[in-house]
Amino acid sequence: MKRLRNCLNTEDFRLAAGRRLPSPLYHYIEGGSDDEVTSGQNTSAYEKYKFIPRQANGVESISLKSKVLGMDLDWPLILSPTGMSKLFHPDGEIGVAIAAKKSGIAYSLSTMATTSIESIAAAISGPKVFQLYLFKDDELNFEILDRCKAAGFDAVCLTVDTAIAGNRERDVRTGLTIPPKLSLRSFLEFAFKPQWCLNYLRGGKFSLPNISQDKTGDLSVLANYFAENMESQITWSKVDRIATYWGGPFAVKGLQSIEDVKASKASGASAVIISNHGGRQLDSVPSSFELIADIADATGDTIEIIQDGGIRRGSHIVKSFAMGAKACMTGRPYLYALSAFGGDGVESILESLRMETEKVVGLLGCSNINEVNREHLRYANKLPYYLSEASPAPLNTKIRRT
Ligand code: GLV
Repeated sequence: MKRLRNCLNTEDFRLAAGRRLPSPLYHYIEGGSDDEVTSGQNTSAYEKYKFIPRQANGVESISLKSKVLGMDLDWPLILSPTGMSKLFHPDGEIGVAIAAKKSGIAYSLSTMATTSIESIAAAISGPKVFQLYLFKDDELNFEILDRCKAAGFDAVCLTVDTAIAGNRERDVRTGLTIPPKLSLRSFLEFAFKPQWCLNYLRGGKFSLPNISQDKTGDLSVLANYFAENMESQITWSKVDRIATYWGGPFAVKGLQSIEDVKASKASGASAVIISNHGGRQLDSVPSSFELIADIADATGDTIEIIQDGGIRRGSHIVKSFAMGAKACMTGRPYLYALSAFGGDGVESILESLRMETEKVVGLLGCSNINEVNREHLRYANKLPYYLSEASPAPLNTKIRRT
């Protein structure tokens, strides 16, 4: 069994989570939709660009500070909203939020969290975002937003890519459904992870307290309530109503097209979150990293760009920043760490990612992450100079241009 001190990077934490979690839960975190092409490419696409460092720049100290959605971050990461954290470890959302605060970054709380808006506010004074799923009834939306205002949340992000559930075959195969209905096989998977079972029992009552303060207790009641009340016809005018009611820093999450980014701006958003929901919704879309440059070029400074998905190393954060993102979001890495080691694990993985980010910025010859730009990146498949159109074919060599 891997110990915390031996986990140096995201992959170590992923392996540790795989050993500690019952397999239906591990696959719930890990899975994407259909053939999981996009969920894999969210990370592999980073290798389409290589770094070109600059030397002898006399770098003395390195700053990673960034400001996004009105929040001052010590380094440009926001923890993505993920549901039901107490399923993975009893430290749950509070453990994750405290780790984010200690690291100087922002935490986002999901509508589907197992911890309330008020409890997160009581636990951390640091930057926090609430993620809203749109309900049919605006009274419910506004009630949640009122709670966020009263609790001092800094920003709200509205998720717009989940009106239809993605086709996640791992969950079908493992038998994990919400509410959980365990097949014999998946029951055995739980039985073979006694530490998880003990932790789960220790975690106390399981509820989704952000959906409605009155309905706590039985997960199936809550899940049905959610399914019946969620808005399946999201429109820009509904987005506008939410942004206007909230009145503070507001992001639309789950966008990939330039047109939708412009529509978000017109609907009152101050930021957009380029995201394919970790490859869990529509498969066969580009990695979110690959979309940053086009969107940044089309929108200039008119809206803040946050990129979500695929981050496994600090170098990924720096590449997204170089392309034009103001901050990145990540979900699976902290869930691996939470599942394996609770809040201490999350603190540790965040320290690894922060340290990696700082080293990359310094190794690129920059003293501030804001200095990193596209000149520090080179498209990996770019023809070498002697094969490019700009270069005359070298004498005495036969080169086939492709
Ligand atoms: C929820 O947002 C999920 O992707 O499971």
